[in-house]
Amino acid sequence: MTAKTIEWLDGKLRILDQSKLPWEQIFADLDNYRDVAMAIKEMKVRGAPAIGVAAAYGIALGASGMKTANKDDFLAQLNQIMQTFAASRPTAVNLFQAIDRMKKAARGDGVAEVRKSLVNEAKRIHQEEVAATKKLSQLGAELIKDGFTVLTHCNAGALATAGYGTALGVIRAAKEQGKKVSVFATETRPLLQGARLTTWELIQEGIPVTLITDSMAGYFMKRGEIGCVIVGADRIAANGYTANKIGTYTLAILANAHGIPFYVAAPTTTIDLSLASGYQIPIEERSPDEVTHVRGVPIAPEGTRAANPAFDVTPPAYITAIITEKGIVRAPYTEGLKKIGSRSL
Ligand code: MRU
Repeated sequence: MTAKTIEWLDGKLRILDQSKLPWEQIFADLDNYRDVAMAIKEMKVRGAPAIGVAAAYGIALGASGMKTANKDDFLAQLNQIMQTFAASRPTAVNLFQAIDRMKKAARGDGVAEVRKSLVNEAKRIHQEEVAATKKLSQLGAELIKDGFTVLTHCNAGALATAGYGTALGVIRAAKEQGKKVSVFATETRPLLQGARLTTWELIQEGIPVTLITDSMAGYFMKRGEIGCVIVGADRIAANGYTANKIGTYTLAILANAHGIPFYVAAPTTTIDLSLASGYQIPIEERSPDEVTHVRGVPIAPEGTRAANPAFDVTPPAYITAIITEKGIVRAPYTEGLKKIGSRSL
């Protein structure tokens, strides 16, 4: 079992620093909200559900650290803290769902009571994500045939969810159901979540994994070596358009061209019914340095211009099904997603 990604321990937030994996397994005990917001920004905590859980605990930490006993001042400062989290990463909607819930939980007679209510709500958000990822994984495992090789992109495992995993959760659950399953993991340039994190998790789970570069996917699909593709999601719009790690769109088109099922696995906290179209999803642009350098080492001539969108949007025409804890949704997605709804909105 993978080490705990996020843990609330004695009023502090313990995180496993994912930016250091797999070379070093370093846990950091964060005791103030700024460090939590920075950990999200710097991707020490990453993956849509994990970002939401970390932000909820971060807001609770911020509330505990405030000096004022005046409730109005307290709520004004709390609002500032929530804005800091809202500005940390723009694409994963789980972050904004968590902030919304914490906003609603900021109730109580005095400051002490509000603080307590915020800690309890953060713990609830965490428990619910664990339960949801477990449930969706069990439902999704039905789609995995015995002997399948599954291709996955980025990392949508326990690390990314502070729970059981989504894409990797489905694979884990299939194995637990007694199926023989193996994985092709794309390295996921530029930050190598597939090479660093997905392989790390699967090796610990005893699930056979083959690492490939992002550009090898079509080759293996053409050879008939891939049974299905499963990826996670950062935000699913009301019409089923799905934002996920850059490169997902390419894989979906490739899978479609080869007649291979392409599944998205995500808890309902990743669904954003407020966006009618997927092209309204804000796409995070990260530093070009992440493209021109690998772990600080330059791989291009100095001064090379580079682009670095962190996510892309896959149209529902390329998605065979969306696996959630409330059921497996197929086209037409607008009806199906509306029916299951989005948790916490
Ligand atoms: O930039 P990251 O590493 O946070 O991106 C993560 C992904 O794109 C995951 O596929 C997604 O968040 C789903 S995690 C269950």
